[in-house]
Amino acid sequence: MKTIKLGSSSLEVPVVAVGGMRINSLDKAEAERFVQTALEEGANFFDHADIYGGGACEEIFSEAIHMSASVREQIILQSKCGIRQGMFDFSKEHILNSVDGILKRLNTEYLDVLLLHRPDALVEPEEVAEAFDQLERSGKVRHFGVSNQNPMQIQLLKKAVKQPIVANQLQLSITNATMISSGINVNMENESAVNRDGSVLDFCRLHDITIQPWSPFQYGFFEGVFLGSDKFPELNRQIDEIAEKYGVSNTTIAIAWLLRHPARMQPVIGTMNIDRLKDCIKASDIVLTREEWYAIYRAAGNILP
Ligand SMILES: NC(=O)c1ccc[n+]([C@@H]2O[C@H](COP(=O)([O-])OP(=O)(O)OC[C@H]3O[C@@H](n4cnc5c(N)ncnc54)[C@H](OP(=O)(O)O)[C@@H]3O)[C@@H](O)[C@H]2O)c1
Repeated sequence: MKTIKLGSSSLEVPVVAVGGMRINSLDKAEAERFVQTALEEGANFFDHADIYGGGACEEIFSEAIHMSASVREQIILQSKCGIRQGMFDFSKEHILNSVDGILKRLNTEYLDVLLLHRPDALVEPEEVAEAFDQLERSGKVRHFGVSNQNPMQIQLLKKAVKQPIVANQLQLSITNATMISSGINVNMENESAVNRDGSVLDFCRLHDITIQPWSPFQYGFFEGVFLGSDKFPELNRQIDEIAEKYGVSNTTIAIAWLLRHPARMQPVIGTMNIDRLKDCIKASDIVLTREEWYAIYRAAGNILP
């Protein structure tokens, strides 16, 4: 699989990341087969969060991969913290406690990447900085990033945080592409021109922050998968036509569309199906033409001015 450097760091990561949010839908043998296949296919970057399955997903993963010192060397582990029941919490105490819990559940001594999961309205950048410094000094976390943050929120953090923010995990799919369409429709009177994210896409490109699109196959907020959905007939016709041309599945083309963007994104896929996992990974070898990329963009109902 092709790789990219994560943000401004020297960490080389596969272009497709494997998400762990749904691993608790598998039994033990299925989970072992799934992570083994991912490793065989070069998909050794795993995304977790302390809240997935209430912590169970991280435990299931570390058991399935038979975590050991030698396994740990072959994989890149990312996890997230900062979401609590009914609130968000970027306090120093919560971040430090969360990381200890994550490391215990993943059965490892360090995370390659820690992301702050969702913006905390009560964030104190100085407290985050103290937590990050402590985690870096102790060797518990090597790189830091955020998720679902806009440019000003990142700038606010950076007022105190000295480590580079290497990643920003954001919802992005062909059918959830407002960060792209608002850039295309700048200053128009239409709905697509509404800038909901403070131009986060350009900001991340300018500051070498890798965008990790989450839910790359969903429309709405986990409403369903757009592939094969009768809600998107034109999009599916267009994707199927391009898939046939390349001799791949529609799943491959949906990921290839994200990878074609010059921001050099790293989609985080959520499938727990081995064939679909392989199809997502195949996207690493496909470079869509400009014509194909725009045809898919338009077929989803995204507009050009
Ligand atoms: N930072 C955040 O706030 C945030 C939020 C949500 C998720 N995430 C991360 O992003 C990852 C992906 O999220 P997600 O699971 O919602 O993403 P997704 O890849 O868009 O959705 C995967 C789901 O769609 C199903 N699916 C059905 N048909 C499919 C097809 N043709 N191709 C691919 N999937 C198909 C999968 O079922 P099968 O298993 O049967 O294939 C699976 O249940 C998570 O694991 C998590 O790591 C982050």
